[in-house]
Amino acid sequence: MSKHASIEDAEASGKYIRRIRSFVKREGRLTKGQAGALERQWPKLGLEHQAEAIDLKAVFGRSAPVVLEIGFGMGKSLVEMAKAAPDQDFIGIEVHRPGVGACLLEAEEQQVENLRVYEHDAVEVLADCIADESLSTIQIFFPDPWHKKRHHKRRIIQPEFVQQLRKKLKPGGILHLATDWENYAEYMLEVMQAAEGFRNLATDNAYVPRPDHRPLTKFEARGQRLGHGVWDLQFERIA
Ligand SMILES: C[S@@+](CC[C@H](N)C(=O)[O-])C[C@H]1O[C@@H](n2cnc3c(N)ncnc32)[C@H](O)[C@@H]1O
Repeated sequence: MSKHASIEDAEASGKYIRRIRSFVKREGRLTKGQAGALERQWPKLGLEHQAEAIDLKAVFGRSAPVVLEIGFGMGKSLVEMAKAAPDQDFIGIEVHRPGVGACLLEAEEQQVENLRVYEHDAVEVLADCIADESLSTIQIFFPDPWHKKRHHKRRIIQPEFVQQLRKKLKPGGILHLATDWENYAEYMLEVMQAAEGFRNLATDNAYVPRPDHRPLTKFEARGQRLGHGVWDLQFERIA
């Protein structure tokens, strides 16, 4: 468990070695609706990045399987999933503030309560706030593809990162990835096939059909309009 007082301290002590970020912070404007939802809902649903693991039972007031989503965008599909699975708890992480506001607004409108959100870099939240072997599922849908080859190092799916993810899953837990960028899908498959401690749930050892519980996201709908394919990968933690 990390004991650094702040990210700056942690950086100074060399804790975060992976400084190549998977995102560029955009200071997008908040709509009135998003700002209002942040004000009303953050005290209820917001989680602050801190230097120690959160107590999931205390946060949700019960013991239930916990699904973590990294980079939920505007949060529409995350809220839809949380609403459709009231027997599970959901945590979303997103760096884009208008997205967090949009997600909270949607949660408010849908009266979803089995959801908490971080507005922070998922790499740091995972390292500092999420206990090992605590999650039933981790999902990363349509992560930024970083098209140019010289930017591929920014892709969030990397061998070291998937081992971080594996540690946070309970044995038998699932890592679910989806992308509409074929080159990234191939890269994800390559990384996951080489990753220790995972088993591919695809019958042909490649991609799985989109599971019914994953709603169509905004990016996916756009991809479909552009005639892109979509690739889902599901891997189980076996060690
Ligand atoms: C291409 S968008 C996809 C959003 C959403 N999953 C969807 O399908 O509509 C990728 C999102 O991941 C977020 N993101 C990228 N790196 C992140 C990180 N390290 N921590 C949290 N969010 C991140 C970005 O801000 C962006 O909103």
